[in-house]
Amino acid sequence: MERNLILKGNLCYSQDSKNLIMAKNSFLICENGKSVGIFQKIPEKYQNFIIKDYGDCLIIPGCTDLHLHAPQFAFRGFGMDLELLDWLENITFPEEAKYADLEYADRAYQMFAENIKKSATTRAVIFGTIHIKSTICLMDYMEKTGLKTYIGKVNMDQNAPEFLCEKNAGDSLRATKEWLEQVQNRYENVKPILTPRFIPSCSDKLLLELGNMEKQMKIPVQSHLSENPDEISWVHELHPDTDCYAEAYDKYGLLGNHEKTIMAHCIYSENKELELLKRDSVWIAHCPQSNVNLASGIAPVRTYLENKMNIGLGTDIAGGFSESILRTMGDAIQMSKIRWRLVDQTQAPLKLEEVFFMGTKGGGSFFGKTGSFEKGHEMDAVILDDTDLPYPHSISLRQRLERMIYLSDDRHIKAKYVKGKQIF
Ligand code: GUN
Ligand code: FE
Repeated sequence: MERNLILKGNLCYSQDSKNLIMAKNSFLICENGKSVGIFQKIPEKYQNFIIKDYGDCLIIPGCTDLHLHAPQFAFRGFGMDLELLDWLENITFPEEAKYADLEYADRAYQMFAENIKKSATTRAVIFGTIHIKSTICLMDYMEKTGLKTYIGKVNMDQNAPEFLCEKNAGDSLRATKEWLEQVQNRYENVKPILTPRFIPSCSDKLLLELGNMEKQMKIPVQSHLSENPDEISWVHELHPDTDCYAEAYDKYGLLGNHEKTIMAHCIYSENKELELLKRDSVWIAHCPQSNVNLASGIAPVRTYLENKMNIGLGTDIAGGFSESILRTMGDAIQMSKIRWRLVDQTQAPLKLEEVFFMGTKGGGSFFGKTGSFEKGHEMDAVILDDTDLPYPHSISLRQRLERMIYLSDDRHIKAKYVKGKQIF
């Protein structure tokens, strides 16, 4: 069977945010797409499984990108000298409006899908645009990559330029229903997710009805939360009855009260907001590169880890310009060090173990049991070949992994598996 196989090499994976397991020259056995565990010798029962021997390569679990915008891939690196709200208005909204044209979307999304397929990412949660046909085009391309994804048609019916704004809540909801009818059960690898862009771009009626839709149709939700001080003040003006930004989602049932929910950024979430995120087990998508590019701030990641909250990493393409979750791990460490030095000396910088956990098992948990090689986890694996980075002395597996986080690009990825199936 295709999904019964054995990977041989140097295996690195997280047990939790503190413990990174390194198994030198070992066998990872995969049965029906799931890990059976790691062995030094292959047990009798699995002797007939195909062995893929990757020699001295590193083998890590597939990475999860908990937050990125596919239509923004085409303009990575544009407007990186702007702050969030100016960047949205001047760069992002005009670019996203181009996806009204299906031919443009087809070209752009094909490039996006090819690129993410080659990366270390095996699972991703993705924003499309408000356009139904283009979003389905994106889903079709992503289905073919073999990656497991959630993809959302965006909702926005206010505070956006006319060229990228649905006419009213009714239109936005009708479009969402039409989109859902077309995509539910159409794919093996892609699932829909409700995607109110952020509070300022959604009317009260739209938020209310999306909350009802989530409950009735049991569809998860993704959005943005507490990314930028001006954005937060704006939300407070729009919803003066709330004590915090998260409450504006919560009052419409959009904060994970029913279905699983991802909130990107959560840079300024404290006290009541932190309690709401904990109460509803919301997944926090930490997007360090975007947060520095858009001068948004630095999230208190250590606090979230100490509170045992669900947290993973996101590239936030194109707030972030790199699609690499490995690079994002390094960015998360760098940002946490600046935070420690300049903001809060009681919050120690993040460790390698912690960022690797977030980029694999932490974010992967949104998809169920994945992102680790522990028994029972769906077997997503990335084979990293670092032979073109020689070193003049012997270094440990941990050091080799650390170098891959900072120095690797797609050329170091020799093969990739999703749920036991080889993607390339
Ligand atoms: N908030 C609302 N829309 C966006 C977006 O496209 N990117 C980011 N980073 N934040 C947002
Ligand atoms: Fe975003």
